Amino acid sequence: MDYVRVASVKDISPGQIVPIEAGGQKLLLAQVDGQYYAAQRKCPHLGFNLCRGKLEGGSVVCVLHKAKFDLATGKIDRDPKLLFINMKAKTDLAVYPVKVEDEDILVRV
Ligand code: FES
Repeated sequence: MDYVRVASVKDISPGQIVPIEAGGQKLLLAQVDGQYYAAQRKCPHLGFNLCRGKLEGGSVVCVLHKAKFDLATGKIDRDPKLLFINMKAKTDLAVYPVKVEDEDILVRV
């Protein structure tokens, strides 16, 4: 597994989630308080695009059924829910190491 350049620090603002591709995989890149996170783009519940999700601290919330995933660990913070029906995400969110060199954001895939 190697680090690959996915973006410049100029491409993403604090509190933003953007789509990236690395190693042939469709991922998301998020910035929270100057910290960058990379994760799979599809929600582990039913595959909704998490680039359309919302950031809550260091977690991303899927807007479809409100599942919440920690971007540092990928762990589920809150299970999905539809009205009164509690559901389960199939897996944790896959997350990937990120580093910044000069102005380049690199993700290891
Ligand atoms: S698809 Fe993301 S919570 Fe259901």
